Amino acid sequence: MREHTTDKSARQTARQTGGVDAYGVQPGVPFQDLSRWATKAPEGEQLISTAYGDKVQKDLAFVEHKPGVHKPDPILVADNVTRRFGGITAVDVDHFEIERHGITALIGPNGAGKTTFFNLMTGFDTPNTGRWTFDGQDMAHMKPERVARMGMVRTFQLTKVMSRLTVLDNMLLGAPVQPGEGMFRSLVPPLWRKQEKANIEKAEALLERFLLIKKKDDYAGSLSGGQRKLLEMARALMRDPKLVMLDEPMAGVNPALKQSLLDHIVSLREEGTTVLFVEHDINMVRHIADWVTVMAEGRIVAEGQPKSVMDDPAVVDAYLGAHADIDLGDDSVLEMTESEEA
Ligand SMILES: Nc1ncnc2c1ncn2[C@@H]1O[C@H](COP(=O)(O)OP(=O)(O)OP(=O)(O)O)[C@@H](O)[C@H]1O
Ligand SMILES: [Mg+2]
Repeated sequence: MREHTTDKSARQTARQTGGVDAYGVQPGVPFQDLSRWATKAPEGEQLISTAYGDKVQKDLAFVEHKPGVHKPDPILVADNVTRRFGGITAVDVDHFEIERHGITALIGPNGAGKTTFFNLMTGFDTPNTGRWTFDGQDMAHMKPERVARMGMVRTFQLTKVMSRLTVLDNMLLGAPVQPGEGMFRSLVPPLWRKQEKANIEKAEALLERFLLIKKKDDYAGSLSGGQRKLLEMARALMRDPKLVMLDEPMAGVNPALKQSLLDHIVSLREEGTTVLFVEHDINMVRHIADWVTVMAEGRIVAEGQPKSVMDDPAVVDAYLGAHADIDLGDDSVLEMTESEEA
């Protein structure tokens, strides 16, 4: 099993051997041998940050802190995206880019348009104007299933797990729909059995990684709020997404489980997955984001490295609104290492 470590030599080895670290883990090869990831970081240690974290931070260090700024290697590029509901303009984004392989936080007060922006990008809602490309492909008018198949998968602010299905069945619902599944495959049992077996193996490996394996046969309705969040994230990963968009992954999650969620997100980046997440938990943003984008009244109003954006009193006062009273320097919640949520 993989030991998570802060060991610098492991990082160095990773660089010297062309990306394969001392444990044989090659960043960018998604979910090869998931059992390596089944453990969480030992008490008092953090997951190693290897190739992608370092690269992205280096690349972004030269990017100007200006709303709508161009990035060195964007995976998602949105232009002139607007969405109106009656009299209000919920989203009004001139230009926005998300850097590939980075962890980008999207923050802003309630009603800023963050969830609506997620809905538009992933085909769950249709904009009034705008266009956007994902990995170079034009995405306008695509249905959510197609968007997911292309590698952009999101989770929901209010989790959408099926309470009356088991945890494992919820995971299998996240498995990609195979082209031609309807006709040919269904007539050839060995083919779909093989696929189903592969899906179950993958689901179980992910459940193990997200500490839900013991619950796999329980109804999802019996899970705590935090565990549902984990299940939704695990289900999103059934697709091996290139970009995963998490809408408030920490909301309702107890402090002990928060640390493990953070570790999961960081390890996603190390496997080459790009992460965009919406979050009100400022400490989480400071700890794991490579880049922070601030949205208010539908617009992108600030962007930059977490430290400078979050320490900017104008951003704190104007955009974090009700959340501005959070002690921005208090990291204690992230250092709790109690056992995971029961
Ligand atoms: N389906 C809808 N019909 C009408 N108005 C909507 C709809 N969805 C969102 N809105 C409005 O659009 C604005 C942006 O909402 P959105 O949910 O995107 O904000 P948010 O940034 O995700 O907020 P929060 O942090 O509270 O989740 C709000 O004023 C909201 O009331
Ligand atoms: Mg929202």
